[in-house]
Amino acid sequence: MATFLRPGERKPSAFGVSFDSDRDGEAALPMPAVPNQGLQHQRQKLPVSKHRTEILYLVEHHQTTIIVGETGSGKTTQVPQYLVEAGWAQGGRMVACTQPRRVAAMTVATRVAEEMGTHLGQQVGYSIRFEDVCTPGVTHIKYCTDGVLLRDMLADPLLSAYSVIMVDEAHERSLATDVLLGLLKKVQRRRPDLRVIIASATLEAEKLASFFDASTVRGRKAGPVPGTVSKASALLSVEGRTHPVQVHYLEQPTSDYVQTAVQAAVNLHEEDMPGDILIFLTGQEECDRCTNLLEEEARRLRRRQGALRLMPMPLYAGLPAAQQLQVFQPPPRGYRKVVAATNIAETSVTLEGVVYVIDSCFSKQKVYNPLTGLESLLVAPISRANAQQRAGRAGRVRPGHCLRLCTEETYERELRAATVPEMQRSELAGTVLQLKALGIDNIMAFDWLAAPPSETMVRALELLHALGALDGDARLTKPVGQQMAELPLDPRLGKCLLQAAASGCSAEVVTIVAMLSVQSIWAGAHGEKKALNAAKMRFAVGEGDLISYLNVWKAWEDSGRSRKWSHTNFINHRTMLRAADIRNQLCSHLRRVSLPLASCDGDVTTVQKALAAGLFTNAAQLSDTIYESLDPAYTGTNMYRLVRGAAGQQVKLRIHLGSVLWSCKPQWVLFYQVQQNSSGWYEMQDLVAVQPEWLTECAAWEAAIAAAEAAARCEAQPVTGLGLRLEPRLCAVQHL
Ligand code: CDP
Ligand code: MG
Repeated sequence: MATFLRPGERKPSAFGVSFDSDRDGEAALPMPAVPNQGLQHQRQKLPVSKHRTEILYLVEHHQTTIIVGETGSGKTTQVPQYLVEAGWAQGGRMVACTQPRRVAAMTVATRVAEEMGTHLGQQVGYSIRFEDVCTPGVTHIKYCTDGVLLRDMLADPLLSAYSVIMVDEAHERSLATDVLLGLLKKVQRRRPDLRVIIASATLEAEKLASFFDASTVRGRKAGPVPGTVSKASALLSVEGRTHPVQVHYLEQPTSDYVQTAVQAAVNLHEEDMPGDILIFLTGQEECDRCTNLLEEEARRLRRRQGALRLMPMPLYAGLPAAQQLQVFQPPPRGYRKVVAATNIAETSVTLEGVVYVIDSCFSKQKVYNPLTGLESLLVAPISRANAQQRAGRAGRVRPGHCLRLCTEETYERELRAATVPEMQRSELAGTVLQLKALGIDNIMAFDWLAAPPSETMVRALELLHALGALDGDARLTKPVGQQMAELPLDPRLGKCLLQAAASGCSAEVVTIVAMLSVQSIWAGAHGEKKALNAAKMRFAVGEGDLISYLNVWKAWEDSGRSRKWSHTNFINHRTMLRAADIRNQLCSHLRRVSLPLASCDGDVTTVQKALAAGLFTNAAQLSDTIYESLDPAYTGTNMYRLVRGAAGQQVKLRIHLGSVLWSCKPQWVLFYQVQQNSSGWYEMQDLVAVQPEWLTECAAWEAAIAAAEAAARCEAQPVTGLGLRLEPRLCAVQHL
């Protein structure tokens, strides 16, 4: 067995993988099953309920119906139920309702199951990547992420399992929503019986309406002859029941909006007005920090006064399901809820009882630079449209207040009017691969709701080509391209897994890939950073984070998947259970496509090479340049140079502090993702150390030959259907 070297010391190899199927996946959501009269009464009071007949009429007579309504008016929970009541789920077909976020799919399905008095997973279910809580033949309403529905189309391109598809939260313009809308428009031509409903919280809907060629505006019915289907679509506006919200700004800008938000919440609380408080922050770490600070304040305040007590709680996508659901419960008598949320609370879910909104005016946003080929999450100012949505959350029960944590001048001058659709700021290799697998050859001519930049498209084609998924004519290769498209994974990770299956280490790589498919496996509350880092180093090896994950997995398995063990080692137990579940599903997938699941028994090099086969375009080399950084943690350390492309070399690249390779800095590394900080540094995360010759050997060599051939062909004739040439510069090998 090979030994994994930790920087500066030796330790025995500690990975090995069991093939046992794991039965104890993530704990199910609480399942209410008693019909609830109170809920029926609430249903009837929702604004959308007045439009029930009209909605059903429009859906019957139009292929596409667009419903615009304020958040909380009942679109998501009620419309699918109306459809089922009107018979759209008869004959075994389903009504699907897509959500851009996993949490929304889960919480909404839970709520609707409760309203219908059924167990979750029976008449009402949900389906998110790697988790399907539906029963074939029984489920009538399926809440799913837009990504899951896209994947369903690979097996069922005309979506014949569904009678109605409701594309919800369309105003968010998530990448998958945009792709789905383009595809649905195509499917409708082949399936005139398929009904599409698009639900949106803003008038962004007008753009959608013209995309689908709508004929009606604001509540009046178009004039199709009853009983016939008009080709045109209809637009219906459901008036909300919102109260005015007074907006306030800071007089002076703040440098720490979390702290300012806490102070503002405490001030509001001390004024003793009724109503819950909702704070918008950018991510899990901030929400946890804010909640911790508020808890300290709550303890202090409790001693001082006997009035309402503060009840702080976080809300973000990675939160365990049970804790998420708790946020939606009314607070116990005598308590005031203060929810520190990410923009998940902007429109996806409704929190009742909120009267005050405190808005950081920031969110984590995906950004992609086609010049460097780097996609990262960046904390950036939200748009004014988003800020208005957030403010609206305060006016649900009575007139409310919104405090924006910036000056009015900054708000007017620095926030853009509307958000750029995700399609135009994302890396598109996965999307292009899916479209190709659906038989859409001419990607450039696809009916995009908002066309992505052509540079981005070319980069995506180049990457897929380099990974061996597309041939020189930009056609899906068999079997590699096809297999990659079928795997529910990012194309790079898909390639790692396929390569691992070919080189006899799929059992190890499937573990790594599963652990990369969940949120961070590390747990550690604010203030426990040191202990967390020490825990990380117990599993660390010099080959990098991805190989260290194998040690975590092995030790967790050896502990009998013990919760106590996880707690002691700062591992998030639930996340590990989810990773185990994903691993299991990926193993079944490999079995289905007859790829071997084999272990290389500790031969780390084989694992590293398989990883290199998928990640080689994310190669970086240690450079001689020393940081000039104000941040003392980084001063005096070396920068990395992005191997790919000339532009890439200008990138300010370094290893993230949380990586196990932070202190040993190998010459050559590959990274799975980068995060961009506010001073423009790209910080590499999830690293693996490599030898430069492997890049040539196991990945780029193949690509280099293919690219050279493609380039030669392109010389003679442009690549079919693209109107663009694949360029040989895609090969990392060129720049070594
Ligand atoms: O989709 P839209 O924002 O129009 O509204 P909805 O999500 O259907 O929510 C309608 C109502 O259901 C909300 O006002 C909430 O009172 C309630 N609801 C809830 O209590 N718990 C949920 N998980 C979802 C909705
Ligand atoms: Mg909704």
